[in-house]
Amino acid sequence: MNKNIIKSLSTVFCIGTYILSYTANAAPFEVLHWWTEPGELQSKQVLVDHLKIKNIEFEDFAIVGGGGDGAIHVLQMRALSGTPPEAAQIKGPDITEWDKLSMLVSIDKLVDTRAWTNFLPEVVINDVSVDNKYMGVPINIHRVNWLWLNTKIFKRFGLAAPTTWKQFFTVADFIQAKGIKPLSMGGTPWQDALLFESIAISVLGPDNYIKAFVYFDNSVINSAAMVEAFKLFKRLHRYTSIAQQGQDWFWASQSFINDQAAMFFMGDWVKGSWTAAGKEALKDYRCVPAPGTEEVFSYNIDSFVLFKKVNTDVEQTNQKVFVNTLISPEFQIDFSKAKGSIPARQNVDLSSFDACSKQSAYDFDHKIKVPSFTQNMATSSHQQGQIIQLISDYFNSESLSAEEAVQQLDVMVKALTSK
Ligand code: BGC
Repeated sequence: MNKNIIKSLSTVFCIGTYILSYTANAAPFEVLHWWTEPGELQSKQVLVDHLKIKNIEFEDFAIVGGGGDGAIHVLQMRALSGTPPEAAQIKGPDITEWDKLSMLVSIDKLVDTRAWTNFLPEVVINDVSVDNKYMGVPINIHRVNWLWLNTKIFKRFGLAAPTTWKQFFTVADFIQAKGIKPLSMGGTPWQDALLFESIAISVLGPDNYIKAFVYFDNSVINSAAMVEAFKLFKRLHRYTSIAQQGQDWFWASQSFINDQAAMFFMGDWVKGSWTAAGKEALKDYRCVPAPGTEEVFSYNIDSFVLFKKVNTDVEQTNQKVFVNTLISPEFQIDFSKAKGSIPARQNVDLSSFDACSKQSAYDFDHKIKVPSFTQNMATSSHQQGQIIQLISDYFNSESLSAEEAVQQLDVMVKALTSK
């Protein structure tokens, strides 16, 4: 055969393969997630749109509730009844737990992942891998240990950003004396625990934080430093009276951004909701690390797992397209800009990102990285759920002392880790 014909046939073949690998069959692709607040909805729409271009019809399986506790329970029921969705937002050690049930699709077997090590940071690779195999697709990185400052209120009183807890209390007392709420706070246990997490990082230091909340080391859990962390945590309770039982983070974020409160502790997904409302970094809010945690980056990586289904060609093609879309730089950039995070991929152009995301990217590269235990990064959700409840009960109790709470934590952790 003529060389040119062979060449053009192989070009046609290559283009055909390319189209095949990037074009799915429009069967609905059900995805479980808990992105239900305005900023999260915009980010989810980015995902829907990117999949649509590749002919994937996103079927929404959204479960309301920040932090994802409700979503995980619904997913368990669906999986038990033999009808899991195609994909679910599962993160951290939970990926291993689901994998043990042999329900997950191995990403390595589905697509060529060999190049992923070139652009994913080690901490991200470890987070989504089980026994050195990719079982999840990472899409972004959130920083959890942020303190948000309301620009208008801080400017009005000429206040500097607190970098220590001592400064934090001085600023909070000053603002309270002016009749303004110092701290906005939601009313669900994981939000209480998120605040505690930053305090624990600052009081224990990153190494001991990891020993306590990743390895459940009782010498750190049952320590004077842990009691100190609980006591400091409780001192913040007096600033949080607008919290209502069950109030989700979105409503707390609204009172902050609408100038009714001066400060707010939350992961940077909150920035997505402010971006959706037309608010801007620096102009309307500032981001600083929680006091005493400037050398630490507490991370939360969003990722998706795929469930084994009937395994038809159509389904496999859709799964491949889903994974390849989620890992692409185009999607990760668009998604993170809406979500308030930074892409899981490194070396992407962040010039169009806001100042807080740029700082987050810099700090991710330069600071000590610790997994956020309140965001499923340190332990599986059943262990995490009980610890979070205890922390929240202590925060809201008028009688439980810090020493008692630490003792209860010690007993709880021993029970959680005994076989
Ligand atoms: C998730 C974020 C989400 C946040 C609030 C976190 O656990 O990782 O993607 O925006 O919960 O719902």
